[in-house]
Amino acid sequence: MSAVAITGIGELVTADPLLGDGSALGLLVDAALVVEGEQVLWVGPATAVPQADHAVDLAGRAVLPGFVDSHAHLIFAGDRSGDFEGRMAGGSYTPSGIRSTVAATRAATDEQLAARASSLVAEMLRQGTTTVEIKSGYGLTVHHEARALAIAQALTPETTFLGAHVVAPEHVDDPGAYVDLVCGPMLDACAPYARWIDVFCERGAFDADQARRVLGAGVAAGLLPRVHANQLGPGPGVQLACELGAASADHCTHVTGADVDALVQSGTVATLLPGVEFSTRSPWSDARRLLDEGVTVALATDCNPGTSFTSSMPLGIALAVREMGMSAAEAVWAATAGGARALRRTDIGRLSPGARADLLVLDAPSYVHLAYRPGVPLTAAVWQRGRPVIPVAG
Ligand code: NIG
Ligand code: FE
Repeated sequence: MSAVAITGIGELVTADPLLGDGSALGLLVDAALVVEGEQVLWVGPATAVPQADHAVDLAGRAVLPGFVDSHAHLIFAGDRSGDFEGRMAGGSYTPSGIRSTVAATRAATDEQLAARASSLVAEMLRQGTTTVEIKSGYGLTVHHEARALAIAQALTPETTFLGAHVVAPEHVDDPGAYVDLVCGPMLDACAPYARWIDVFCERGAFDADQARRVLGAGVAAGLLPRVHANQLGPGPGVQLACELGAASADHCTHVTGADVDALVQSGTVATLLPGVEFSTRSPWSDARRLLDEGVTVALATDCNPGTSFTSSMPLGIALAVREMGMSAAEAVWAATAGGARALRRTDIGRLSPGARADLLVLDAPSYVHLAYRPGVPLTAAVWQRGRPVIPVAG
């Protein structure tokens, strides 16, 4: 196996507090990193870099772990820009809009859905995302949910069965029958393609009892729980996630003191999705409060056509810093190591020996530029599994 020494790193974010300056970001300046095969072999000061077979000089650029986008809905067809325009003109978001994407998704071919999803994954990669979680949830029949997950599984191991996104249009008069379907034949068909089970626990979607049933059935089928919780208003989602030991409660826009306490006690990650608040004109999640209380926070895009049609983790970082009270260091940690925690992964979201060599090289001297230069494409290069999938130009 040949080794590559990456030198000339002006600032290296290892996201390993045992390295560098001892902060959560484990920062090193004037650093080097050696990659062997798919993994990081060594990190340290440039002056001490060991001999390698090849060398790449980054001329002072900053390097950080590839982003871990732990919440995205990429298997869909159609367009809801009209909904967005309506909201910007004063309208509000309702979960019923999901059903228009369901109709378009059901009408699309497997090839169309796969092409759309791969192009979004490629768009994410260009912005530094090297791991993405992908949910079903726009099919809502046994066949359409299973095919969504089969398509997702070709793109990522982090696949999530979200049959309980909203009640399917053909079951609106009998939501109980739909929950039976999700917990029975739909789960049976989807479990082989999924690692996770999710439910939209919200007024207009599924209540606490229904959500508990869905998550319980998923866990019994070997899936791991995560929850769409407290997005549109206060509710039972966060505490249910914590009670069930879910890896993550996602959104957490409207949380009470009891919700925060439950997150702290359970260690469930609060995954914040600033793209949603931006695109729905909702109040911003209070990251500062969560962090100050000791909650582990992750940032993700929630890329989906309804509430957050952005694939950009840098945008999420910039919004979290500007609007949610996070420092740039906290936001970058949340978008890398935090995302890895939300997916219960220890091999990604950090750049220390033994980690997967997934890294983002910025056309900037510091990670702070991700928030300081909002909207600017700062990707100089991206490495995935030890290979430069987007090489430094020139
Ligand atoms: O995460 N909250 C539920 N699901 C998506 C929205 C899906 C849609 O409106 O299409 C979300 O925001
Ligand atoms: Fe979502």
